[in-house]
Amino acid sequence: MTGYATYPSLRDAVVLISGGASGLGAEFVRQFAAQGARVGFVDIAEEAGAALVETVAADGHPRPLFRGCDVRDLDAYRTTIAEIARELGDVQVLVNNAADDTRHPSAEIDPAYWDARMRVNLDHQFFAAQAVAPAMRAAGRGSIINLGSISAHIDLLDLTAYMTAKAAIEGMTRSLARDYGPDGVRVNCVLPGWVMTERQLEHWLTPEADADRARAQCLPHRLEPDDIARMVLWLAADDSRSCTGQRWIVDGGWMSG
Ligand SMILES: NC(=O)c1ccc[n+]([C@@H]2O[C@H](COP(=O)([O-])OP(=O)(O)OC[C@H]3O[C@@H](n4cnc5c(N)ncnc54)[C@H](O)[C@@H]3O)[C@@H](O)[C@H]2O)c1
Repeated sequence: MTGYATYPSLRDAVVLISGGASGLGAEFVRQFAAQGARVGFVDIAEEAGAALVETVAADGHPRPLFRGCDVRDLDAYRTTIAEIARELGDVQVLVNNAADDTRHPSAEIDPAYWDARMRVNLDHQFFAAQAVAPAMRAAGRGSIINLGSISAHIDLLDLTAYMTAKAAIEGMTRSLARDYGPDGVRVNCVLPGWVMTERQLEHWLTPEADADRARAQCLPHRLEPDDIARMVLWLAADDSRSCTGQRWIVDGGWMSG
């Protein structure tokens, strides 16, 4: 964290992160813990989640609380959120992060598959917000950060359901910001560009795609999970107390073109 901001308002804050076992979510877990926050996170990747807890604790940060949970099972997810709040305290920061960007030719999507894509990429964001909102509203403060994607604004092949869900998240963010704002609860969404997580490097990054990415961005460097985490930290902290209902784009300038 040397060289980057420390946020006093995040010390001891209770933070809930979905999909925190790998990728951007794991970086969020590490960075909130490094700020002294009390982090709870869920994921289906149980081994990776348990391993991350040990790494963060070994680094001398507050030990995160991990619960294996499939966010598509909304009843189980709501129960898990309640358990985490009982153990750590009322959630002050929610990072709605879990997603699955699996590609699919649009001609092959049937209604069941479409519903499944919405379940993993959209529905849990709303129901997690709904679950934590009452305590945030009672406390008169809270920050909900929804992970969108610049993919909702550019033309990518074979990502119809994912891009639809990501576009919906922007509308949901504006609506919830209006709903919760009078009680001091903020709702924002972060739109990452192409970030080099393990999954992106393994599945989608080719030399040609990388060259296209560098041309599309104003800043040609590869985005790292840390670039997104620092925006999320700021939106979670009191430093952004007057910002809500917005999208925050971290894409090296891709969408500026
Ligand atoms: N990496 C990028 O380039 C990029 C770009 C734009 C937006 N985003 C968004 O950022 C967020 C994180 O992306 P990422 O690249 O780290 O993704 P990732 O696929 O690397 O990680 C997603 C995490 O969510 C977990 N997960 C998946 N399905 C789940 C389920 N049903 N229940 C619980 N956990 C589940 C996975 O196990 C994994 O740990 C997502 O919302 C994604 O849409 C990422």
